[in-house]
Amino acid sequence: MEERFASTLKILTEADKEACETVRVLENEPFSNKKRLFIESYGCQMNFADSEIVASVMRDAGFATTSDAENADLVFLNTCAIRENAEQRVRTRLKQLNVYKKKRPGMVIGVLGCMAERLKSKLLEEEKMVDIVTGPDAYRDLPRLVEEAETGQKGVNVFLSREETYADISPVRLNSNGVTALISIMRGCDNMCSFCVVPYTRGRERSRDPYSIVNEAQALFDQGYKEVTLLGQNVDSYKWNKKEDGSRVNFAQLLEMVAVISPELRVRFSTSHPKDITDEVLYTIKRYDNICKYIHLPAQHGNDRVLELMNRTYDRAWYLERIESIRNILGESCGISHDMISGFCTESEEEHLDSVSLLEQVRFDFGYMFSYSERPGTPAAKKLKDDIPAEIKQKRLAEIIDVQLRISTERNQKLIGTVQRVLAEGFSKRSDNDLSGRSDQNKVVIFPRENFKKGDYVNVLITDSTSATLRGKALVEAEVF
Ligand code: SAH
Ligand code: SF4
Ligand code: F3S
Repeated sequence: MEERFASTLKILTEADKEACETVRVLENEPFSNKKRLFIESYGCQMNFADSEIVASVMRDAGFATTSDAENADLVFLNTCAIRENAEQRVRTRLKQLNVYKKKRPGMVIGVLGCMAERLKSKLLEEEKMVDIVTGPDAYRDLPRLVEEAETGQKGVNVFLSREETYADISPVRLNSNGVTALISIMRGCDNMCSFCVVPYTRGRERSRDPYSIVNEAQALFDQGYKEVTLLGQNVDSYKWNKKEDGSRVNFAQLLEMVAVISPELRVRFSTSHPKDITDEVLYTIKRYDNICKYIHLPAQHGNDRVLELMNRTYDRAWYLERIESIRNILGESCGISHDMISGFCTESEEEHLDSVSLLEQVRFDFGYMFSYSERPGTPAAKKLKDDIPAEIKQKRLAEIIDVQLRISTERNQKLIGTVQRVLAEGFSKRSDNDLSGRSDQNKVVIFPRENFKKGDYVNVLITDSTSATLRGKALVEAEVF
């Protein structure tokens, strides 16, 4: 799930990922006499989507967004707690912000998101310059907390809700390319993967009213957006009871409701959970050309004993059966990516090699790979010993990354000579003469701009590849589905 922010298409080391994961600041809005809000986001796509909710709440309270932290009246860091180094980055950033605050004593600094939820008021004690600590379910309370902070009163709201989905709030699209947008369809997580802090920072799972989701997607399409990504920690367990007749909307049905808005609106989603992804979802993806043939299916490990310790509730055979279903129903070319953790508690060398062999067996298009970072309060931290030395964790991680890089390179090479339908998202990072976009299978494709522009669907003949990107040339004039 990750990276223009989180959804990138390359193989990322942990360090890379933390780097890319960070920081999408808000663009500048006209200020007139409004106060200035600077917001910086860390972590997963859901946090980025939440920052857009926060911007909306604060806009209603009279704030305009700025990309200039130094001269902001209000600075929010929307934080991640998934690994220790994610929190470390926030602490480093807070030190920097403190320098600005010394020059502008009226500046209010708020820590939002998962690290705020994890540390609660402790954060105020640890980081003296922080004025506000707000968890992911308390963003409606931000205007009050800010008002109090402006009078010198520090404030904490880390209440986790069973109902809050912010369904009625229209997000302010931040740093938007005007082509792709994120839509949260649910919040929280009821799984208890033993390594994971998310259930503690995001609370219980709850699904958002499907009609508010469809309305948001429709509004985006009407504004010219061409792609939406439906977000949840475990989208396959999306469920909504219709008030009218008590019938249920499940994820497959929701996907369909969004897909029928227009064949010109691409639909992506993240994250799927191997225990829950159904054939019904796969057949829905197959039925609609505009639902992208790409699935992020985190494996976390390739060994049954470790998967059990992780409490993932599936084993290797189950995972492989789901992969087989994906390939049977959606074809060999369907993009598949994974997450893997190396060096989990008690992992032996042989067990580590089972993760390596899973990569070889599945031949994923790409993956996000991490070394285990113990998170206080999680079941693993309470019950298991974090006993794999850091060097071994790193060595195993490097092995996993090497294998995945080779496989990604090979899989991308196979695409040379094929034609990919690409949605252009903007200029490539290196040159304004090139456009960059993504294929149906979520591969980054770079091609000469010619007369195309962002938002165009372009058929690109692939002529070159690396492990992370494809290059090619447009075949015909811009066309739509
Ligand atoms: N809901 C998603 C994952 C969200 S967290 C899912 O279930 O797949 C994103 C990824 O971070 C996870 O898939 C996992 O690979 C990684 N991760 C989570 N906790 C971690 C930890 N304590 N140490 C290292 N990596 C971790
Ligand atoms: Fe964490 Fe597991 Fe929930 Fe994903 S499914 S957010 S890894 S507890
Ligand atoms: Fe996301 Fe990080 Fe929270 S990955 S859910 S921002 S802990």
